[in-house]
Amino acid sequence: MIRIGIIGSGGIAGMHVRAYKKMPDVEVVAVADVVPGRAESFVKQHELPEARAFDNHLNLVELDLDGVSICTPNVAHHRTGIDALEAGKHVLVEKPLAVTLEQGIEMVQAAKRTGRLLTVGFQPRYDPNMQAVRDIIRSGQLGNIYYVQTGGGRRRGMPGGTFINKELAGAGAMADIGCYSLDLALHALNYPKPLSVSAFTSNHFGTNPIYHSEADKFEVEDFGVALVRLEGNRVLNFKISWAMHMDSLGPTIFLGTDAGLKLTATGIGPWSGVWDGGIGSIHLFRDLLGHHTDTIIPVKSHNVDIFYEKVRDFVVAIQEGKPAPIPGEQILINQAIIDGVLRSSALGREVEVHIPEL
Ligand SMILES: NC(=O)c1ccc[n+]([C@@H]2O[C@H](COP(=O)([O-])OP(=O)(O)OC[C@H]3O[C@@H](n4cnc5c(N)ncnc54)[C@H](O)[C@@H]3O)[C@@H](O)[C@H]2O)c1
Repeated sequence: MIRIGIIGSGGIAGMHVRAYKKMPDVEVVAVADVVPGRAESFVKQHELPEARAFDNHLNLVELDLDGVSICTPNVAHHRTGIDALEAGKHVLVEKPLAVTLEQGIEMVQAAKRTGRLLTVGFQPRYDPNMQAVRDIIRSGQLGNIYYVQTGGGRRRGMPGGTFINKELAGAGAMADIGCYSLDLALHALNYPKPLSVSAFTSNHFGTNPIYHSEADKFEVEDFGVALVRLEGNRVLNFKISWAMHMDSLGPTIFLGTDAGLKLTATGIGPWSGVWDGGIGSIHLFRDLLGHHTDTIIPVKSHNVDIFYEKVRDFVVAIQEGKPAPIPGEQILINQAIIDGVLRSSALGREVEVHIPEL
């Protein structure tokens, strides 16, 4: 039996517990939340009679556990993650990895030092259409891929609470949904290293009471665009928006020397996009005997529970001693780009990106 603890018992923790409860070989034995009484209510609400409830994650990590799900606001991923790793527990941390690049580095170092798994919760990787895109990109059919455009936007879709507090979230749309769209593109490309970033961010919607009920508390960006130079003479055009006067920021595209791939969003659900597996169409453009062709790759309709799959993969990695399914070390690159976006935007110029060898 795999013994699991959950740190942070808000919205997303419910998704984790629902996934674990479907697994006959897993037991959720403890929950911790800093708000007194909240872990206890969570345990009752999710019918976990055997689980212990704590107001401090340090009590939880001392228990005999195999793994821990970190479901706190972004700012607490670092402290709770390192404490869990140091206590010898494997860690599944919700996205984004951390609030700053430095915190992410320390988390990855802790995983290396302790020899424990540190995996990051990017469930769109388990979407069958996302996997088809990854396989097409990695097949080499596109030739040398020199330009990628990723991201997307919501016409109106700004969260509130901890998501708009700079200290707690680190960044706004970039950390919330931008990290998914970066993962979509970079994972398909086997995570090339970023070299530099030139970015612009703004928050015209979040800070306007016409558009946001918590405008006076809105401290992060609701829009961002960046040109990211990648190793291998490639460039990534990355843009993300929580709110805008537009229906879309355009498709996700990969341009290669032999072919191009275009993905459009389903448009189903006002908050979804290509980045979270909401792929509406996949087109492959290439020349055939002098003709310009546009091949439609069928989008699979499926009922894969991508959230369950991500949690299950963590459990299987623990059971079978496999590497982290979505390694923190790889997602450090994602974090470094977001860090570069924020630095470049603040300085109003291009900045270099350095990720130390760990
Ligand atoms: N993968 C996904 O689809 C997805 C979706 C939403 C949110 N998230 C991520 O999940 C995380 C949590 O988001 P949420 O919407 O559940 O937030 P939330 O605010 O609903 O819940 C967070 C909980 O953590 C608790 N907490 C704060 N600091 C803590 C600490 N040091 N120790 C223990 N508990 C602590 C809070 O009291 C709160 O109950 C965020 O990082 C977010 O980016 C992921």
